[in-house]
Amino acid sequence: MKILMVCLGNICRSPMAEGILRDRLEKAGIEAFLDSAGTADYHAGEAPDHRAIRCMRQYGIDISGLRARQFSRDDFARFDFIFTMDESNHRNVLVQAETEEEKKKVMMFLELLFPGKKQSVPDPWFGDMEGFFEVAEMLMKASDKFVTQLQVE
Ligand code: 4NP
Repeated sequence: MKILMVCLGNICRSPMAEGILRDRLEKAGIEAFLDSAGTADYHAGEAPDHRAIRCMRQYGIDISGLRARQFSRDDFARFDFIFTMDESNHRNVLVQAETEEEKKKVMMFLELLFPGKKQSVPDPWFGDMEGFFEVAEMLMKASDKFVTQLQVE
């Protein structure tokens, strides 16, 4: 199973989501390949934001080795699940899908918790550390739900 997390810059939300879901899947003994990307290329090649790294470290998850990259159309073929963090990323990914099969791979990550609600993971970039912890809590709940769904299937 191959899973891609997508946000805008690929330095806050999606690398956090990648690190958390990788940790949860490893702990559940489920083999998977994880990656993350941004719809924008502003931070390509950069490590995650230092606040995201510090936040995740508090949960025992090291995301310092991740590097940002931009989402590309090749990702539709490379991944089974493409989880978007907010409505804007969601639209920007979906508009690049060319087939129904590609579209079906794309889902807002918080749909796992609140189906049909189109709820976004708020962008913590302009805020303080508290915002990063709020994001981490949401991502952990959604990741746990995803793992549970895989286990009951
Ligand atoms: P992310 O956060 O999409 O969660 O990685 C952002 C990072 C950088 C910017 C915006 C959002 N930026 O405008 O540079």
